[in-house]
Amino acid sequence: MFITLEGPEGSGKSMQIRDLADFVREQGFEVLTTREPGGTFIGDQIREVIMRMDNTMMHPNTEILLFCAARAQIVTEVIRPNLEKGVVVISDRYGDSTLAYQGYGHGLDLQILKDILKFATGGLKPDLTLLLDLEVDEGLKRKIKGGSEWNRLDAQKVEFHKRVRAGYKEMALAEPERWKVINASNEPQKVQQDIRAVILKKLESIKR
Ligand code: TYD
Repeated sequence: MFITLEGPEGSGKSMQIRDLADFVREQGFEVLTTREPGGTFIGDQIREVIMRMDNTMMHPNTEILLFCAARAQIVTEVIRPNLEKGVVVISDRYGDSTLAYQGYGHGLDLQILKDILKFATGGLKPDLTLLLDLEVDEGLKRKIKGGSEWNRLDAQKVEFHKRVRAGYKEMALAEPERWKVINASNEPQKVQQDIRAVILKKLESIKR
């Protein structure tokens, strides 16, 4: 089973994923967590290029192709082989980030992005996607307060992040069987509880 976590900046995905992985293991499944961009030797090098603060001249098309290049690598090297072994793979971001940030955020053509994504992933889609949703201002505040690394993409205008959030919500509404929206403005423990409830239901559907 392939599960992805998506959300705007500061939604707490990375922290929640760690607890979620423990929970899924307790249910008797083998679990692998990954993150994008990166997660492979080659992908981590691509991540450096994408995130560098001084790469301000990067063209949006270059950015898309770099995200998708890192994704092509992690899908073939890590995600598919593990799914084939029956491992539950949980990824911190995946293709929907490209649609949200490059598509809704930067206004690039969604259909073209979907075609590029299909090429990069060989059509691999998540079985379940959790949207950790919260107000943009709240998320950016948390990110600054948490002292986490500030990258070139975080430095976009607030309006950009608002379009990203709206894009996520639109995608979640359009495909409700795959997407589940979690209110990430709650206390972390409550967020984890809500995530676990959704995941448990999904895992039960595949348990023998
Ligand atoms: P990261 O430091 O991993 O932050 P986060 O904890 O928010 O995931 O940075 C990833 C950044 O890259 C984040 O701003 C979202 C952005 N991004 C895209 O714009 N497109 C993509 O396809 C992906 C995977 C990420």
